[in-house]
Amino acid sequence: MRIWTTSELPKPLAGYGAAAALPGAALLVWRISPVMHQNPFVLFVAAVIISARFFGFGPGVFSSVLSAVLIDYGVFHPHFAWSLSNKNFQELLIFLLVSVLASGLARQKSRAESRADQALQHVVAIVESSADAILSKNINGIITSWNPGAERLYGYRAQEIIGKHISILSPPEQQGEIPNLLEKLRRGGSVQPYMTERVRKDGTRVNVYLSISPIRNRRGEVVGASTIAQDLTSQQKAEEMLRKNEKLATAGRLAAAIAHEINNPLEAIGNLLYLARRDKSKSDEYLETAENEVQRVVNIAQQTLGLVRDAAAMAPLDVSNVLEEVVNLYTRKLNAKKIRLEKKFEPGVEIRGFSGELRQVFSNLIANAIEAMPEQGRLLLRVERSHEWTNSCRPGVHVTVADSGQGIAPQDVAHLFEPFFTSKKESGTGLGLWLTHNIVQKHGGTIRLRSSTSPGKSGTVFRLFLPKTTETPETAGSH
Ligand SMILES: Nc1ncnc2c1ncn2[C@@H]1O[C@H](COP(=O)(O)OP(=O)(O)OP(=O)(O)O)[C@@H](O)[C@H]1O
Ligand SMILES: [Mg+2]
Repeated sequence: MRIWTTSELPKPLAGYGAAAALPGAALLVWRISPVMHQNPFVLFVAAVIISARFFGFGPGVFSSVLSAVLIDYGVFHPHFAWSLSNKNFQELLIFLLVSVLASGLARQKSRAESRADQALQHVVAIVESSADAILSKNINGIITSWNPGAERLYGYRAQEIIGKHISILSPPEQQGEIPNLLEKLRRGGSVQPYMTERVRKDGTRVNVYLSISPIRNRRGEVVGASTIAQDLTSQQKAEEMLRKNEKLATAGRLAAAIAHEINNPLEAIGNLLYLARRDKSKSDEYLETAENEVQRVVNIAQQTLGLVRDAAAMAPLDVSNVLEEVVNLYTRKLNAKKIRLEKKFEPGVEIRGFSGELRQVFSNLIANAIEAMPEQGRLLLRVERSHEWTNSCRPGVHVTVADSGQGIAPQDVAHLFEPFFTSKKESGTGLGLWLTHNIVQKHGGTIRLRSSTSPGKSGTVFRLFLPKTTETPETAGSH
């Protein structure tokens, strides 16, 4: 159906022309239809209402005056002569009053309607041009509308999918979610936006972020639901690329530190082998020490592999061990800056996690701390078994990385975990803390930080909570 807006309504002149023609037509009908002879006013009032409704208040009033003239001249006795009797005059006056009133009301109604039409057209334009998929379904799950964004995302054209059941978009393993969701909405519940998987027409899967809201009728009853679906695939791919890049960058930074670490034992091995060859009596002793040095190199190599390769599933790990291994890789850097390292590790604190990823977290925090400190700073690392401080009180571990560096300006704190936020123009990518936050979240943990830039007592404390086990985050009900 075509929706007229006020701007598209016929021009005023045409409106007045029509307002003039309508009373003429009323007079004609009155003359040729004997049935209407008793009630000439009905025809004229109808003409006035039509004029006002479609052409505006001015043409409505014009039509009323013209009708009054035509009634006096053509309808009242004697026909086709002016009638000036008192009774007729009173009737005309009442007719005029009624028609002007009706004009006003008719105009008001058509204005309200055209405003509603305009608002509707705006909404239609927004929905049509939206990059997101917007669709609606009735309470039985039958699709009732489908915008071009939905065509692009799911591959179905509106004609082929309207009238079908919404479950056509759900993967086979999630078929139960839609009836449950509709039932929840029908009972007046709300649905939090959530991430899920959908199936395109060609059978490929797509990750989407869905916002679902109920559609109510005038009585407030839920008659369906509208869904806005955002395609997350490209966003997730970009984030995955960033994560991989940052992983490589961390590995690269560590490679330099590792080369230093390996250099030392290798030199020692060289010397010990030389001594063993020269002094046969002590060769066993020298070779044993050389073996220890080889073991050191092996350990370093394994830690490095742990950083770049990660297990496919979470496994039990000792947090103090992992932190110890990571900080060992920074020994040279700490020594070079004469940083005093203080370790308070509670032994045997186990959690389930990805050890490679947690190595990355600790490595990022320690690298940031070292970079923030001048010579002779102080780095404190603490691992303690404890409970989360929030209501949930989950058991787990608190890991503290505290430094006596320059601190973080209060206005920067809010941006620290955003990707690419860095104050190290030359050397930083600004991905370290963003990734750290990602990994901690993946482990179901939290990060808190305190920092001060006051001269003399500046420093930063990062405190992580990692739960003993990660409960699978509750999916947003059934959708
Ligand atoms: N311990 C700290 N002391 C002072 N500032 C810090 C500390 N940790 C982080 N920051 C600030 O937060 C910013 C972001 O840190 P993040 O680790 O995300 O990136 P980056 O260290 O700049 O670069 P990279 O990606 O190489 O780690 C840093 O540039 C720094 O300004
Ligand atoms: Mg960093």
